[in-house]
Amino acid sequence: MTTTDPRPAPAQTEQGTFHHGARSEFNAWFFRTFDRYLNHITRQHKRSAFADIAAGAVVELGAGVGANFAHLPPGSSVLAVEPSEAMHAQLEARAAARGLDLTVIGAYGEDLPIPDASVDEVLCSLVLCTVDDPEAVLAEIRRILRPGGRFRFVEHVAAPSWSPRRWLQHAIRRPWSWVFEGCDLCRDTARTIEGAGFREVAIRRARLKRSAFVPVNTAISGCAVR
Ligand SMILES: C[S@@+](CC[C@H](N)C(=O)[O-])C[C@H]1O[C@@H](n2cnc3c(N)ncnc32)[C@H](O)[C@@H]1O
Repeated sequence: MTTTDPRPAPAQTEQGTFHHGARSEFNAWFFRTFDRYLNHITRQHKRSAFADIAAGAVVELGAGVGANFAHLPPGSSVLAVEPSEAMHAQLEARAAARGLDLTVIGAYGEDLPIPDASVDEVLCSLVLCTVDDPEAVLAEIRRILRPGGRFRFVEHVAAPSWSPRRWLQHAIRRPWSWVFEGCDLCRDTARTIEGAGFREVAIRRARLKRSAFVPVNTAISGCAVR
């Protein structure tokens, strides 16, 4: 059996990046500084969604500063798709500390420089809230996964319509999105994943417990199989 190497040629690893000055530096600082806390409040979601990831080539979308590297088997070969240049140095340091073979790809999830049907695992956390076009990103994830390959996710979503948190999400939606470089508090990401054409989708819905970040504590996690 021949397998396709999912790594892009070096010339393709810098396809699309951004740097919004102080805002991007703030976000890199924020995710570095609150990394342990964010991993603590999402731990139940991450433990179930990211359990038993097979060693091998793993694609992580919007890898940030490497918050999910602890869930990858040491020795994994990670293609980290991260358009924010401000995150790259920390990503590389984290991967080296975990013994991961890292390729950072400066690209957007909507247009991945990765061949069709070339990976078994794609994962992301807190990313489908931020991408410009979640449907296009999910189509790209399906395209690069082999049949039977898994997309694993942990995402914050819109609170139920009866909840005061929903009101809060709408009230602060625009300034929040500006500060967090596109993060939309009001997306129905479960519905978007369910409609993305995967063969099987399993979604767990549970609030993040004891989270100080109330606008983002309505969360989903799970796995979609191509
Ligand atoms: C809220 S942060 C989450 C970072 C990390 N996954 C975590 O859980 O800490 C969102 C990340 O998605 C990245 N991002 C933004 N737009 C993207 C896109 N179109 N495709 C892929 N990643 C994107 C951002 O640069 C940022 O690193």
